[in-house]
Amino acid sequence: MPTLKVHHIGYLVKKIDAAIQAFTKLDYVTMQPTVYDEIRKVHICFMQKDGYVIELIAPASEDSVVSGLIKKCKNSPYHICYESADFDKDYQMLMDNGYASIDAPTPAPALSGRRVVFLMNASMGMIELLGP
Ligand code: NI
Repeated sequence: MPTLKVHHIGYLVKKIDAAIQAFTKLDYVTMQPTVYDEIRKVHICFMQKDGYVIELIAPASEDSVVSGLIKKCKNSPYHICYESADFDKDYQMLMDNGYASIDAPTPAPALSGRRVVFLMNASMGMIELLGP
């Protein structure tokens, strides 16, 4: 299996500013200004604490990629993102090992346009794969 490094934990939130305030009170620090991802129609803010990185994701409209999920999960962590040094190779390797692609690889504006793809595993749920 590929050598993947944990990059961040994705955290669904209903309102991005309220969530940033709440995490700030627990001493999380914002890593960059909040970004609007127009492909996925979500607001994204990365924060860190104790070496852990969290990605806050809030729906920007009713048809955002997380609108359905947030009705089910409310405010909650929902994916771990793994960083890959060889995106195409690791993507294929995951697909050959029981992961199904949820979407096609697309650039992530909140991560300097690096490619990301979401995959589902029957025993583990959703992961995100992040290119170099
Ligand atoms: Ni993510």
